[in-house]
Amino acid sequence: MRPSRLAQSVAMSETLAIDEKVRALQAAGTKVYGFGAGQPDAPTPEVACEAGIAAIRGGRTRYTSAAGTIELRRAICQKLARENGLAYEPDEILVTAGAKQAIFMALAVLVDPGDEVLVPAPYWVSYPSQIRMLGAVPKVVATDESTGFKLTPGMLHAAVSPRSRVLILNSPSNPTGAVYTPDEMKAVVGAALEHDLAIVSDEIYERILFGDARHVSPASLSAQARERTGVVNGASKAYSMTGWRIGYLAAPREWIAKATAVQSHFCGNACSISQDAAAAALDQGADAVAAMVESFARRRDRVVALLGRAPDLELCPPEGAFYAFPDVSAYFGRSIQGRRIANDVDLAGYLLEEAHAAFVPGSGFGSDRHLRLSFACADAVIEEGLDATIRALEKLKR
Ligand SMILES: Cc1ncc(COP(=O)(O)O)c(C=O)c1O
Repeated sequence: MRPSRLAQSVAMSETLAIDEKVRALQAAGTKVYGFGAGQPDAPTPEVACEAGIAAIRGGRTRYTSAAGTIELRRAICQKLARENGLAYEPDEILVTAGAKQAIFMALAVLVDPGDEVLVPAPYWVSYPSQIRMLGAVPKVVATDESTGFKLTPGMLHAAVSPRSRVLILNSPSNPTGAVYTPDEMKAVVGAALEHDLAIVSDEIYERILFGDARHVSPASLSAQARERTGVVNGASKAYSMTGWRIGYLAAPREWIAKATAVQSHFCGNACSISQDAAAAALDQGADAVAAMVESFARRRDRVVALLGRAPDLELCPPEGAFYAFPDVSAYFGRSIQGRRIANDVDLAGYLLEEAHAAFVPGSGFGSDRHLRLSFACADAVIEEGLDATIRALEKLKR
C-alpha cells in the first residue's frame, strides 16, 4: 500500500511513548501521578445527563440537520449573546463532533493546498496536523515567556507572507495557560485584519480563567473582525463533556453554509443525544461551571507554589485553562548514575521512572524546552506528585 499524501502528513503523537510507559507501570501495580490529562476531572452536570437520557427515552435518536438541532443552535446563539456580547443567528452556527472538528471544518472552507496558516507556538497539537491534512502549510510563529507566550503585532507582521490566509488564536491557551488581555487581543486582531487574514479563534477554555484574566473573543471587537472570524467553542471543557463530542463553529453565514455542506458528507451530524445534553448544559449548567473553575483556581495556586520550590525551573503562571508549562531546559545536560538527560522527552521519561509522575514533553506543542502538566487531577496528586518531581529534579547533577 502506498499511503496517501494525507496519511503521510500526520503521525500519532510522539507523546504516546510516555503513555505506553505509564500503562506498563500501572500494569505492574505502580501508582503513577498523572499530570497528562487533557480533560476536567469533574462529572458531567446532572442537567446534561438527564437531557441525554430523556433524548434516548424520547426517541430523539435519529439524524439531525447537518448543522445541528435548531434547539442547540438557538441555545448557542443565546450563550454567545449572554457571555460574549456576540449576535449570531442559528444559520451562522455549525454544531460539530467536538471543537476539534469545528477547527477542521473552519480550515476546510478557508484554505487551499499551499496556503499558509499562522500558528503561534506553543500550540495545541492538532493545529499543524489538521493544516497539513488539508495540504496547507503551518507557519509556526514562536513565542516565549518574554511576551507571556502571546503573539504581538510585530511578530505577526514579520511572519506574514503573500500565501498567508488564516491566523489561529487560542486564548486561554493549551498548553501555556496564556490569556490575551483585551488590549493585546485588539492589537493582534488589528494586525491580522491589516493583512486580510481570517481568524480561527479557539475559545474552548474561555470559562476557565484565574485572577483578573478576562476572555475577549476577537469577533466581538468590531464588525470587520466578526466578518473575518470563526469562533470555535464547545461543551467539552466548560461542562466536562469531553466524551459527548459536541463543539461548534460560529461564523458568517457563507462560511457556515459551506462548512455545513462539508460536514454533511463527512459525519452527517453530531450525535443527536449529545446535542440535547449540550443544549441543557448551555441553558442550565452555570453552577457546575462555577464550582469547577473554583477548584481549578485552587489547584493552579498550589501548582504555582510547589513548582516555585524548584530553583532551576521557570514558570510563567497560567492565567486560564488547566495547564502549567514550565521551562525545564536548565536540567538538560545533567546526569544521574551515568544517564544524561538531553531533552524534554528524556526528562519526561526520567520523571516517570524516578518520581512516577507523568508529564507531556513540550516538543509536541512546538517547544522542546518545556514540559506540560495538567492540574485537572486530585489535590493529593498535585501535592505528592510535585513533591516527588522536585526531589527527582534535585538528584540530577551538572
Ligand atoms: C486548545 C484545544 N482546542 C480544542 C480541543 C478539542 O476539544 P474537543 O474535545 O471539544 O474536540 C482541545 C482538547 O484538548 C484543546 O485543548
